[in-house]
Amino acid sequence: MPTSEIHKFYKKGFKERLEIVKEFASLGEEDLATLQKFGAMDFETADRMNENVIGTQQLPLGIATNFLINGKDYLIPMSVEEPSIIAAASKIAGLARNTGGFKAEADKPIMIGQIQVLGVKDFEKAKKAILGKKRELLKKADEFDPVLLKYGGGVKDLEVRKVESKRGMMLVVHLLVNVSDAMGANAVNGMVETIAPEIALLAGGKHRLFIISNLAIYRKARAKVVLTPGLLEGSFSGKCRFVKGPEIVEKILDVYALAAADQFRATTHNKGIMNAIDAVAVATGQDWRALESGAHSFAAFGKNYGPLTKYSRDKEGNLVGEIELPIAVGLVGGAVKTSPVARVAMKIAGVKSAQELAMVMACAGLAENLGSLREIAVRGIRHGHMELHAKNIAVIAGAKGEEIDAVANQISREGNITVSRAKDVLEGIKKEK
Ligand code: MEV
Repeated sequence: MPTSEIHKFYKKGFKERLEIVKEFASLGEEDLATLQKFGAMDFETADRMNENVIGTQQLPLGIATNFLINGKDYLIPMSVEEPSIIAAASKIAGLARNTGGFKAEADKPIMIGQIQVLGVKDFEKAKKAILGKKRELLKKADEFDPVLLKYGGGVKDLEVRKVESKRGMMLVVHLLVNVSDAMGANAVNGMVETIAPEIALLAGGKHRLFIISNLAIYRKARAKVVLTPGLLEGSFSGKCRFVKGPEIVEKILDVYALAAADQFRATTHNKGIMNAIDAVAVATGQDWRALESGAHSFAAFGKNYGPLTKYSRDKEGNLVGEIELPIAVGLVGGAVKTSPVARVAMKIAGVKSAQELAMVMACAGLAENLGSLREIAVRGIRHGHMELHAKNIAVIAGAKGEEIDAVANQISREGNITVSRAKDVLEGIKKEK
């Protein structure tokens, strides 16, 4: 059996790496050709961004349209393999334009860095000693990243917490850092590392871990959208035909109520939100794992796990949708500048600050979520998904050229998106010709 233990794989050239992987996984020449297609990213760039690079994994980069946020128009780049995400988000964004679009805001980009101190005998005394030296500690941490200060960022505050654990009481310091337009992990990690020994000394213990927290509770983004029932109503193929606005609002509130009351549903509800947020993150070169962990942790922060969006009906009967979650993203660092596609995606997003990007992502999450709820409240998610596949189904059934749209439209209208029905429809079209 071939082994995955390969000595100094990182030092090997591209071709050699490919050869090793080819042997290991019994790849064919076609597989190798696929791996060698680097698209917009050449090997050298990819190799700088990751370890042991042998190829690039490609995702389609799509654009969510129609977004009007705080009066500004946005095209939102999304890299993801699920077509309904862009479709749902664009649909809701289109409807929202009639009521002024989305209103959004984002907190200042404050991240938390943690320092863990063990063996502290007297917590209150240690806390007092640390807080007594707060100014000096903040200054020292700031010295780690003078560039951040130049861009209006820097250390803002320090908090001392007591955490009871299975291995006894721990003193935990939170350093609050304005990371400006960065995601912030590098700056924060460097700062907590710089002051950890002094913190431990002041606390009379020893420091262990010092690292950023991805639960970015001080860096949240919020967005809101109001839709009249008339905007939400419409024709749905499949089980239902035309569903009136007040009825759709009612149904959406029903499905939302389950998310608010039940963790099983809340998890899927939030998955829908993150469908869009992650897709923007991937397109623009963000750390989507940090966003995911922060979002789900926030969904259970100080309460039972719940939905990241909220829906209600206002006095006029309109549906009001709101979202709030931590969104730690950057315009500098990470893959943002190194990935050629991310650079272009960022240009498309047209954001001037990390806060603006966070607002755009919050709106994308809200729009995608509402688009999903509108579908699942009325006819289940399968129909909308299948409609997007109708053209593929038509092609599989043998349709060519103009026949593709004709067949796809008819099977979508009928809500019977199957290859066998597409074949029948195609035969009918051919006979008519
Ligand atoms: C599918 O990717 C996402 C949904 O399941 C979200 C939801 O159920 O709200 C449709």
